[in-house]
Amino acid sequence: MSTERHVTTQETPPPDSGDAIVHEYDGILEADNHLPRWWLMTLYGAIAFSAVYWLGYEAFKTLPSPGDAYAIEQAKAAEAEAAKLKAMGAASDENLVAMSKNLAAAAEGKDVFAKNCASCHAASGGGGIGPNLTDVAWLHGGKPMQVYATIKDGYVKGGMPAWGALIGEERVRLAAAYVLSIKGTNVPGGKAPQGASEP
Ligand code: HEC
Repeated sequence: MSTERHVTTQETPPPDSGDAIVHEYDGILEADNHLPRWWLMTLYGAIAFSAVYWLGYEAFKTLPSPGDAYAIEQAKAAEAEAAKLKAMGAASDENLVAMSKNLAAAAEGKDVFAKNCASCHAASGGGGIGPNLTDVAWLHGGKPMQVYATIKDGYVKGGMPAWGALIGEERVRLAAAYVLSIKGTNVPGGKAPQGASEP
């Protein structure tokens, strides 16, 4: 049984195959099965999809490429951010103080503070690596616009990061408003005052 031969009649058909055996070699039977319909559908489906894809993305370019789609999303986000900044107006002592007195803004500010600032200034604001923000002594000034500028531009050499580029204008203002709301509360266990005392 070692020579190859073609079989035209079924000798020992495999139990699950209704197809004719077309080839037998050394006792191994080969049948010419039809491909399952679902398999063919995925193949034809992929071919049909490729035609639509090619026409849309390559031939007529009616669909934006992922790069273009990303650029469009980015432009939309930048526009929304610009509109938001315009609506907020320029930062000032007055609107920072107003924000710090507005409880909802202070609560949002507390969240920004907990996420970005507590690691160095302690969750209470009492200070750690960074100075105590609840006393009346300030290295860089405790007036609203001074606190805002410190947070936005940082004192990188002193170890205070510039947050403007990291968290954006809105969250810088929320953080500033929150710092103003805890200023002078002298939380227990706070770090000793650093800098000049301000009334
Ligand atoms: C990596 C540590 C670190 C983080 C995080 C950090 N700070 Fe600071 N911060 C410092 C240090 C250090 C100083 C003191 C800088 C100096 O000596 O010039 C400082 C100073 C300040 C000051 C000025 C204090 C003064 O006495 O004038 C304010 C206000 C402030 N940080 C607010 C924040 C806020 C708000 C955040 C979060 C958005 C934040 N910091 C996050 C380390 C940090």
